[in-house]
Amino acid sequence: MSQQDDLFSAADPAAVSVSEQSKTAQRAEILRNQLNDYNHQYYVLDNPTVPDAEYDRLLRELQDIEREHPELKTPDSPTQKVGAMPLSAFEQVAHEMAMLSLDNAMNAEEFADFYARVQKQLNTSDDIEFACEPKLDGAAVSILYENGVLVRAATRGDGQTGENITQNVRTIKNVPLKLVGDYPQRVEVRGEVYMPLDGFEAYNAKALAAEEKVFANPRNAAAGSLRQLDSKITAKRPLEFCSYGIGVVSDDFDMPESLSGIFQRVKSWGIKINDELTVAKNLIEAQAFYDGLGEKRHSLPYEIDGTVFKVNNLALQQQLGFVARAPRWAIAYKFPAVEEMTVLENVDFQVGRTGAITPVARLNPVKVAGVVVSNATLHNADEIARLDVKIGDTVIIRRAGDVIPQVVSVVTDRRPDNASDIIFPNTCPVCDSDVERVEGEAVARCTGGLVCSAQRKEAIKHFVSRKALDVEGLGDKLIDQLVEQDLIHSVDDLFHLTLEQLAGLERMAEKSAQNVLDALEQSKQTTLGRFLYALGIREVGTVTANNLASYFGFLQWIMVADKETLLAVNDVGDIVASHIVNFFAEAHNRNIIEQLKLAGIQWPEQEPVTAADDAPLSGKVAVITGTLASMGRDQAKEYLEQLGVKVTGSVSKKTDFLVAGEKAGSKLTKAQSLDVEVLDNDAFMALLAEHGIEHV
Ligand code: IVH
Repeated sequence: MSQQDDLFSAADPAAVSVSEQSKTAQRAEILRNQLNDYNHQYYVLDNPTVPDAEYDRLLRELQDIEREHPELKTPDSPTQKVGAMPLSAFEQVAHEMAMLSLDNAMNAEEFADFYARVQKQLNTSDDIEFACEPKLDGAAVSILYENGVLVRAATRGDGQTGENITQNVRTIKNVPLKLVGDYPQRVEVRGEVYMPLDGFEAYNAKALAAEEKVFANPRNAAAGSLRQLDSKITAKRPLEFCSYGIGVVSDDFDMPESLSGIFQRVKSWGIKINDELTVAKNLIEAQAFYDGLGEKRHSLPYEIDGTVFKVNNLALQQQLGFVARAPRWAIAYKFPAVEEMTVLENVDFQVGRTGAITPVARLNPVKVAGVVVSNATLHNADEIARLDVKIGDTVIIRRAGDVIPQVVSVVTDRRPDNASDIIFPNTCPVCDSDVERVEGEAVARCTGGLVCSAQRKEAIKHFVSRKALDVEGLGDKLIDQLVEQDLIHSVDDLFHLTLEQLAGLERMAEKSAQNVLDALEQSKQTTLGRFLYALGIREVGTVTANNLASYFGFLQWIMVADKETLLAVNDVGDIVASHIVNFFAEAHNRNIIEQLKLAGIQWPEQEPVTAADDAPLSGKVAVITGTLASMGRDQAKEYLEQLGVKVTGSVSKKTDFLVAGEKAGSKLTKAQSLDVEVLDNDAFMALLAEHGIEHV
């Protein structure tokens, strides 16, 4: 037994409580130091090393300790201030009115507690009305207007003193340099500067290609961009501003009774307020706003990490007042964190249909945004190098929307001594063939082709998948067995399987074996588009496959087409055209197609519907997004193609117009930012009618 254990097991209860107290004091100090460190990384370096969820947990632990032991509170405790002191390179700005922070609620119970607290403090059981807003994930900014002119902008800094970032804020496109309408003589507009998701992704893609620093998330991107000493750099970043309130305001302002009234006024001066803004009449409506926004969260064009509720009535706000760092009349009701921390236990290498080798991180399971994550993609060798990640590292995992979980960064100060390098294999982990990496491409590929059982399995799974030949009942496990037992080598072998062979497999009764055979038989009647897609030509997805089918009409023509001819097809660029030519140049592939036709696969022949050069809108490029009131997107695309329009998937400078239905998201924002013409449902119908298409 060590001396310390001895001490703790002492019979004297006073001794125990003294040592427990000093342990708590020690813990508080550790937490203070750790949190101050994290604050510095977050606010000064724009480079947090742990996810917000971890920061919040530690802050709460410290708050709990300080609540129970007020004597342990110190003036420098991170519970007593917001953020860190600004960088010395920017001029400092003293806020005339402190820029406060918000208390958090993490679940419905904590939110209901907040509501009850407000009622109690106001000594009422009446319903309380709340202004409901999304909690934008960016950086807080104060913008001062005098006589309608933008004279100064500042960061929040520590809440009392911020940094003068006027030059940078002036570059943000939706921040007016001059207010319009009936504005007060002097007003400080407050709000969040953030980077919309499409801009963030485009920025990171560019930075990655140029081997520059990428941002871990849109919030760091916004904060980092705002704190550039050279405002020309800020000007190139796709930032936006959205107001969530006002600070100081001169006496000539006719103060409305409610916060929602203030928002209307701010809007009338030409400043953006959030589209999602709502007033909730009571707790139930407020909770419903949170639930609704949670569902919509991933389809918004910007990132949010929760909702903010503020007592709507300004007189009640005043009655409630403030505590140390936050108002009593507001709360940030957070969504489950999209970033969490866990340990990278191992890395496996998976071989895909085209031989691409993907490193997959095996993680100590962790709950991220409500789902347990135990695997995340590491993409490729470049990404491993960029992250500088090792086995044994503590990593930050991010799961946003339907996206596959990503490893965002490494918490380097938690790297254990025995962390080991991730070694990218030189030979295929499945078939041992050489792995090659084409110059200029990030992907490493197994050169085994169909010799590689992993590639064979994936090719067959693709061939029978729903959008391809759609063979029901032929699941992944069954295909794994068929390949492993050498019953099939390539897709055409599927059509020679017998009842005995299938029924002899694990977990296959005769009835299900017969069902598979029936489904295979049925799948033989297909379409040219499906068949082309099923072949698994690199980068030929369903859209390209269907475009090829309708352009050429006959498989034979596609098989002999040269690159030039292929380039005339919608959606087919240089790279895809080469993949198609190379695929059909392989005798092996031509042979499989022959075998498939012999096995009875067929499709109705169709006349090519090549858009004539003299089609009325020939040469125009369009994108369709959102939900159209009059028809589905496929139908809309077909009409446009009839008119000679090339329909593509993403908005760029080359786009002539965007057809945008309801709930259009980032494509609409992008089109607006590029000044691309936008047609709503009615305008689109008018365009069709103008060219003689009457849709009923
Ligand atoms: S109100 C006194 N409203 O969250 C109220 N803040 O944790 C102060 N934020 O510093 C802020 N969206 O950077 C408010 N709709 C919103 C917000 C919002 C994001 C940020 C802001 C603030 C932090 C507080």
